[in-house]
Amino acid sequence: MKRILSGMRPTGKLHLGHWVGALSNWVSLQDNYQCFFMVADWHALMSEYKNTGQMQQLLLDNVADWLAWGIDPEKSVVFIQSQVPAHLELFIILSLITPLGWVWRCPTFKEQIRQLKDKEVNTYAFLGYPVLQAADILLYRADFVPVGEDQLPHLEITRELVRRFHFLYKREVFIEPQPLLTKIPKLLGLDGRKMSKSYNNYISLDEEKESLRKKVLSMFTDPERKYKHQPGRPHVCNVFSYYNVFSPKMSSQVENWCRQAEKGCKECKAILADIIEEFILPHREKKKKILKEKKMLYNILEEGRKKASSFAEATLKEAKKVMGL
Ligand code: TRP
Ligand code: SF4
Repeated sequence: MKRILSGMRPTGKLHLGHWVGALSNWVSLQDNYQCFFMVADWHALMSEYKNTGQMQQLLLDNVADWLAWGIDPEKSVVFIQSQVPAHLELFIILSLITPLGWVWRCPTFKEQIRQLKDKEVNTYAFLGYPVLQAADILLYRADFVPVGEDQLPHLEITRELVRRFHFLYKREVFIEPQPLLTKIPKLLGLDGRKMSKSYNNYISLDEEKESLRKKVLSMFTDPERKYKHQPGRPHVCNVFSYYNVFSPKMSSQVENWCRQAEKGCKECKAILADIIEEFILPHREKKKKILKEKKMLYNILEEGRKKASSFAEATLKEAKKVMGL
């Protein structure tokens, strides 16, 4: 089986955007690839170093979501980056051979500095973000890395580092990974902007029924539809795009009741809230069970740490050997 590695930073609660854009993809990849799914806590700390106190709890919360939504530790290796020290060792090794221009020019670097002004990510460590990501990927000799488009520059740096390492040390230790682009369209937030913790416009993966209802009822709709008797335009309405994702069977029906002004937006949203509640409910319950039995969760992560470590150590050893270390 070909191998996959992917990671998520534990910087907030997981929401429907994570499910649609990444997690659902991870779940379905498990049958056809050997998967390594990693909590990228070092990467998270590169922007969250001022509030480190919440990290442990958040990290467990994220992993509980992964498991509750279908990541299967029997099939995939689930582990925490900081528990496998080989990541940092390969990070330093790759840093030795990374020309400053590669990281300095990386478009995500300057963009993040601009976007995360209050986090002050103009740090030494943050500049190395893509280099650590390369170490993550290369340690597991991943053939594919499922990522969103925003991560493509990091994949490109990873591939360049492989070529440079092989050129400098004359031996092929690593595999040049290919991105596996997630085709699924992005799910926008309640207000039509990107779904994100910082905009507070998200529905979390364990959203409770009542707050879910409130959130869905607060969604922006066709801004020109002011009264119920007025026909609406589903294709400019974010609510309609949610139907397409969570209940595609109903799309044409919703289109009809909207265009014919048969239902008002409030009713349309109330129905959507029920659909999403049904979607979330079984996973929410499962997550509660997982978080009640913390022992099992720790066991899964310990197993993952062992499997990931032995794989990573083997690669690291080989890399050091060809360098003459
Ligand atoms: N940078 C990724 C993100 O923000 C997270 C990440 C860290 C990652 N290491 C990785 C993704 C390795 C893929 C492979 O989404
Ligand atoms: Fe959007 Fe539904 Fe209102 Fe149409 S009826 S504008 S699809 S919320």
